[in-house]
Amino acid sequence: MAENTHLQELESLRDAALQELESIPDSSGIEAWRVEYLGRSGKLTQVLRGVSTLPADARPVIGAAGNKVKVALEGRLGERQAAIVNARLDSLADDAIDISLPGRSLAVGRLHPSTIILREITEIFRGMGFQVVEGPEVELDRYNFEALNIPKDHPARDMFDTFWIDANKDAEGRFTTLLRTHTSPMQARIMEAHEPPIRVVVPGKVYRYEATDATHESQFYQVEGLAVDKGITFANLKHTLHEFARRMFGSERKMRFRCDYFPFVEPGVDVSIDCFNCDGTDNSCRICRGAGWLEIMGAGMVHPNVLRNVGYDPEVYSGFAFGMGPERIAMLKYGIEDVRLFYGNDMRFLRQF
Ligand code: FA5
Repeated sequence: MAENTHLQELESLRDAALQELESIPDSSGIEAWRVEYLGRSGKLTQVLRGVSTLPADARPVIGAAGNKVKVALEGRLGERQAAIVNARLDSLADDAIDISLPGRSLAVGRLHPSTIILREITEIFRGMGFQVVEGPEVELDRYNFEALNIPKDHPARDMFDTFWIDANKDAEGRFTTLLRTHTSPMQARIMEAHEPPIRVVVPGKVYRYEATDATHESQFYQVEGLAVDKGITFANLKHTLHEFARRMFGSERKMRFRCDYFPFVEPGVDVSIDCFNCDGTDNSCRICRGAGWLEIMGAGMVHPNVLRNVGYDPEVYSGFAFGMGPERIAMLKYGIEDVRLFYGNDMRFLRQF
């Protein structure tokens, strides 16, 4: 009788345990189930331990039945553990990275052509012993014009169509601040702050209130050059610029000096390079309009008045200066037909550099 009751207890323990096991979804649940039934104080373990207290004739029967239940539970436990691990591996495989797929390239930024050419220019002059300095884009009339031998009402002001800053005015009601029209004001600022010898180049943006075309922008870069010392001559200027052109364009490009007027130099010249586009053979050439030359800079010997204005004695010191247009130089070097492309934000153009 007691034997039957024990057997029934074992059967319902087995059925309940197996039923419970089927609905457990994860490994931690499975472990809790193992402890509950098969652990040291587990329900089946208790039953098996109780076998020794049974009457002698019932022990082998209940003991054997208990072991059978244990084997059944352990067997199913093993199967369920394996099934849960396999299900987890399958879901990992679904999320896995396919390392055989080709990679996706990242869009990498690049330098603007103006930056590339500015770096090339300044590197060449650095190699010739010049220092690189920068100055303000919002400038005073005093430096942009007056210190450069262009007093108020001087007709040479018309050479530089000016964006005036609507802020400060002088006693006569004229604006005193402007967007610099060239990098030449830095000549005066540098000479005011330093004693000769001076050898500097000044890259920076300049602004002109003028109509744009293929070779004229209203915002562009210039690189100013200034060398002041005892005994500097026009020959030094010519040599420096020839050497610059040779390093920048190679020895096959020709360079031309022509007399020109800038109030802050005497004598003054403009410097051109022969046209890469048509070699002067095409009257409709967009770059040189058939002239065969593209002007890239103004230059000359620093005017004695400019030296005096900054407190240098022109009897002791002399110097040369130049101001070049990097976009025009890039046009020659890379065969660009329109200066307006530089600030047109057209990625098809910018991606070529
Ligand atoms: C000047 O600006 C003088 N400050 C240069 C100078 C410096 C002369 C020192 C003597 C001594 P100019 O206006 O010519 O000069 O301009 C110099 C260069 O800037 C030109 O040769 C040209 O290459 C470039 N440039 C001038 N105007 C424009 C423009 N609108 N767009 C693009 N480049 C320009």
